[in-house]
Amino acid sequence: MAIFIDSSDPKEIQELYGWGVLSGVTTNPLIIAREAPDADLGERIREVLKVSWGDVSVELTTETEKEQLEEALAYHTWDRERICIKVPMSEHGLRVVHALTKKGIKTNVTCMMAMNQAYLAALAGATYVSIFSGRVKDLGYDVRPVISSTRTILEREGLPAKIIVGSMRSMFDVNEALEAGAHIPTITPPLLRKMVHHPRTESTIAEFNNAWRNRGSKK
Ligand code: E4P
Repeated sequence: MAIFIDSSDPKEIQELYGWGVLSGVTTNPLIIAREAPDADLGERIREVLKVSWGDVSVELTTETEKEQLEEALAYHTWDRERICIKVPMSEHGLRVVHALTKKGIKTNVTCMMAMNQAYLAALAGATYVSIFSGRVKDLGYDVRPVISSTRTILEREGLPAKIIVGSMRSMFDVNEALEAGAHIPTITPPLLRKMVHHPRTESTIAEFNNAWRNRGSKK
C-alpha cells in the first residue's frame, strides 16, 4: 500500500514527504499550468525529483504516436529509474505504452474512467493504471465498481499493474477508493492535510494539555 502526492510544487512535496507517508508523485499538464504557468517543465520536474523519492509521473503533452514517443524518451533522460511516463488513454497511447514497455520504461496510463480501459492498459504493459474518481462521479456514476472490478481482473489475470486512483475531492473519496481496492490513492496537498485532522482528536489533545498545565492547581 502506498500514497502518492498529486502536485508539482517542490516546496509542498518536500514538506509533505517529511511525514514519511508518501512514496511517489503524480503530475499532469493542468496541475503544472495552474501551479507554475511560466515554469520550464524540465526544471520543475528536476526540482520535484530532488525533494522526493519513488516514481514521478510526468504526462505527455503531444498528441501523435511519433511525438509522444519522442517526448517520452526525452523525459526518461531526466531520471532513468524514477521518471514514469504518463500516457493519456487512447488507441495510439496503447501503442506508445507497448513500445515504452519493451524499452523497460515505466508508464502510468491516465484519464481512465472504466475497467475495460484499465484492463487494456495493463495488458499493454502499464506499470500503473490511473482511474479518475471525481470525474467518474461528475458523470453521475459510482466509481467503486470501476475500482473493484479492475482490481479483480488484474489479480485474476496475474497482471502486475498497480491501480492509482486520482481526481479525488474529499476524504470520503479517498476512503472509498482504498476500500474498493485501489493500490495507491494520489492525493492533493490540501486533501492530504485534511486527512490528519479530526475535531475530537484536537479537543482531546487540548484537554490533556490543559490538565497537564493545570495539574496541582486545585490542591
Ligand atoms: C491523477 O493522476 C491526476 O493528476 C489527477 O488526480 C486528476 O484530477 P482532476 O480531476 O482533479 O483534474
